[in-house]
Amino acid sequence: MTHPTPSSPKSITHFDAIIIGAGASGLFCAFHLAERGKSVLVLDHANKAGKKILMSGGGRCNFVNMDVRPEHFISHNPHFVQSALAKFTPHHFMNYVYKHGIGFHEKSHGQLFCDDSSKDILSMLLTECDHHGVTIWLNTKISTINKSDTFTLTTHKDNREHTLSAHSLIIATGGLSIPTLGASGFGYQIAEQFGHQILPTSAGLVPFTFTDHIGAMAKELSGISMDVIAFNDKAQFALPLLFTHRGLSGPAMLQLSNYWQIGEYIHVNLLPHMSAGELLIKHKHTHPKQHIRTALQPYFAKKLLLALESHFWQQHKDSELANIKDKELITLGNALNDWQIKPSGTEGYRVAEVTLGGVDTRDVSSKTFESKLCDGLYFIGEVLDVTGQLGGYNFHWAWASGFACAMAV
Ligand code: FDA
Repeated sequence: MTHPTPSSPKSITHFDAIIIGAGASGLFCAFHLAERGKSVLVLDHANKAGKKILMSGGGRCNFVNMDVRPEHFISHNPHFVQSALAKFTPHHFMNYVYKHGIGFHEKSHGQLFCDDSSKDILSMLLTECDHHGVTIWLNTKISTINKSDTFTLTTHKDNREHTLSAHSLIIATGGLSIPTLGASGFGYQIAEQFGHQILPTSAGLVPFTFTDHIGAMAKELSGISMDVIAFNDKAQFALPLLFTHRGLSGPAMLQLSNYWQIGEYIHVNLLPHMSAGELLIKHKHTHPKQHIRTALQPYFAKKLLLALESHFWQQHKDSELANIKDKELITLGNALNDWQIKPSGTEGYRVAEVTLGGVDTRDVSSKTFESKLCDGLYFIGEVLDVTGQLGGYNFHWAWASGFACAMAV
């Protein structure tokens, strides 16, 4: 196997495969390809490989979920993920985690995190790449890509122009989320250059923002977290909600953001394990002199209860339950079980964990990840119109798609 170094200006350095993007999918694909005897060059414009891996899971990288199923992924083409997920399971990835002696623990719902640091996962990937002879060029700008029999790339690195060629070109440039971590729309541009459609992109796994009174309420309650069921007509999640200075966050909101579009309402059940209406009616009979606030006191933090009072039952603030009509208590209960709010937007790509939409998978083979429009061109990872739920699914998609591609090239 060759280990080419930057070429002299006019010469062309050839590789079996060039991968654009030294992130999760690109690195995982790279060493599997090299293991199969291919010469592999990974190019990245960033100064460091795997920046998102380092930032992930609050610095502990939720690198996989032990329960991965197609329904954990969103795509305009829902069946697309099936083949890759069937061929690459969480146990396959765990073999590497064990091999590299990485300590891990399950947080909840099958989510595996590093005991120590996300650095362990990145260093595992880089060690495997190094071991199998993968060449990685960072700080590299790709100016042109042309295709005849092979792909020819003009690149700039260290103030020098380099011309590279490869039989296979693998696009692993990820989505648009967090530009400061290297995200760019370059993968979409390449896809379009070769005739692919890009399905509309938007920020996913992202907090909601509000410009109305809900925003002011969230600010006032900033830091308070509670278990809710967040839902709309497409999905529901029984997880914590977090009030923040900017709006509503926490796992429940991040998950629901994947299924939300601007202009739509979201629903929050603030008392997920009971009918709030029935609870209030029951209290009216057993404690007729109590106020609504007292009846609900066991279920909410004090500050939250007062904020809910001014939002939901201000007119009955000082009324005894006995003096409130059953119908009104039922209406209030329904409102607590189904708080309907309309976000003005999300915090956007600046903080989003993922990007919804991307390269239309209908023009990509679900088995090999090769373009159906251009021989030798492949797309893996988040650049595709495949988005996982919160919980390690997005990394699993990066590993599974990278692996399937590496086996096919
Ligand atoms: P990835 O983004 O990893 O890599 C793309 C690479 O392409 C980058 O290195 C980038 O620099 C490079 N690139 C982009 N444009 C380029 C250009 N023009 N030229 C050259 N190179 C270019 N998921 C999960 O499962 N568990 C988790 O715990 C988390 N946590 C998390 C936290 C945060 C803060 C974020 C932003 C994201 C997560 N994710 C996550 C999501 C996960 O990080 C993401 O889905 C995968 O990294 C996607 O892998 P890819 O290889 O597709 O892209």
